[in-house]
Amino acid sequence: MGYFPFFSLETWILLITFVCIFVMYGKWTHGIFEKLGIPGPKPVMYLGTVGRHNKVYYIDDNECAKKYGRVWGMYELRRPMLAVIDPDMLKTILVKECFTYFTNRRNFYLNGELYDAVSLVEDDHWRRVRNILTTSFTSGRIKDMFSIMKHNSRKLTTCLQSKADNNEVINIKDVFGPYSMDVMASCAFSVDMDTINNPSSALITHGSKLLRFSTSLFIFQGFFPFFLPLLELLGASFFPKASTNFFKTIVEKIRAERNESSHQKLGDFLQNMIDSQSTSEPKKEKQNKGLTDHEIISQAIMFVFAGYETSATTLVFVAYSLARNPEVMERLHEEIDSTFPNKGPVQYEALMQMEYLDSVVNECLRLYPPIGRLERKAKETVKINGITIPKDMLVMIPIYALHRDPELWPEPEEFRPDRFSKQNKQNINQYTYLPFGAGPRNCLGMRFALVTVKLALVEVLQNYSFSVCEETEIPLTMDPEGLVGPLKPIKLKVVTR
Ligand code: HEM
Repeated sequence: MGYFPFFSLETWILLITFVCIFVMYGKWTHGIFEKLGIPGPKPVMYLGTVGRHNKVYYIDDNECAKKYGRVWGMYELRRPMLAVIDPDMLKTILVKECFTYFTNRRNFYLNGELYDAVSLVEDDHWRRVRNILTTSFTSGRIKDMFSIMKHNSRKLTTCLQSKADNNEVINIKDVFGPYSMDVMASCAFSVDMDTINNPSSALITHGSKLLRFSTSLFIFQGFFPFFLPLLELLGASFFPKASTNFFKTIVEKIRAERNESSHQKLGDFLQNMIDSQSTSEPKKEKQNKGLTDHEIISQAIMFVFAGYETSATTLVFVAYSLARNPEVMERLHEEIDSTFPNKGPVQYEALMQMEYLDSVVNECLRLYPPIGRLERKAKETVKINGITIPKDMLVMIPIYALHRDPELWPEPEEFRPDRFSKQNKQNINQYTYLPFGAGPRNCLGMRFALVTVKLALVEVLQNYSFSVCEETEIPLTMDPEGLVGPLKPIKLKVVTR
């Protein structure tokens, strides 16, 4: 031991054992895809394959798809994840075997107040909650909410006037974010928050934080998942507590006000959920029971967190894409002017039938799907298209990469709304385009979101054009965290028509 005079033999044995355990633990889970014969990037101890090709996770997925094809294995820190963009397999996972093997997403368990939100609950619990909520999102209900949405879109166009008059460079999220929040708040709780005239409102700050997971907590649970129950016991949550509590207080206050004035008949999401309590009879089977008080609060918060940022981000990217493609904007202006002559009032049916508008929004959601990845967890070991998916394996569907597969979408980086023209649309395999997911667990608010986005676009474009300016970043640097989005705010100008 002459070279190592400082420690005793026992200490050396302990140290070496510790190093061996440390190395083994960091690599333990990393051999599974090799065993299954599935290609993928080589994992690094503890870090897995995170950011091997690009630090922006959805661009990294795209690089992997180019390198490894339509199925590959990756490791999110120590956690194996099977990435799939094969349309046939997607149909099986998302639709055919949804109820048998792939009903649930992964559950981090650190969900705080949102533990019973529809996007997080599992199996029969999910079916019950989803069934009740579905009744809020029928075409009829959304049509009923159209006038509330219009009230907000009118405010949006008014707020843009001074910015156009002053030739201001605007952070486009500062107008579409508040519009989206106001629509969500007014349709969810019938409350006119008017954040459009107060963009630094606490509602916007907390709404934006809901989708920002704590990176340190994420890394800690990734390294040491066995600490999850303890962390849960200590009240740790991925969803910032201050933000969930902020929304919880709002919902509770509104509920209390409604209880006092019981004659009010409001058609918002909250009322629909409250009604589900009284229409359920005590003797009814568990599966048909209405929502509990806590479930109502969770769903109300979840609507804001699922709808606000996604709809705002979509509008931001459409504005950016139109500003960069004036010929597309001109065609859209023509369609808007012929559908609603002389800047006439926007009607629901006519809006929903606008073909070019639909193509523009679809193409934008192809290039920039706000949710870049879907997830399903395998309940049992199952073989799909010859590939064995072991029990508990997380199947990850990289939407961003799927939408940029050059074999499915020629010249994928180009913004070409005509890919979705009436004629071309028929040739699109529905499992190659998934901005709202697919199958029984797809986006509950899809129709609602499309109406919100299309209405804002038409009302704004009736009066203005978007244009790029010196401050517009081209090409965009993308945000490595959260939703698919720009790292820095997108700056544009609006010009009165
Ligand atoms: C452009 C806007 C939106 C986009 C791109 C979007 C996209 C998505 C995606 C990709 C999923 C996952 C689907 C899957 O796993 O197959 C999802 C789930 C969900 N979305 Fe949206 N969404 C949008 C707006 C909204 C709005 C406005 C609401 C509610 C008012 C909403 C409510 C939900 C809910 C509740 C789920 C979970 C469904 C479940 O687990 O059963 N979304 N959304």
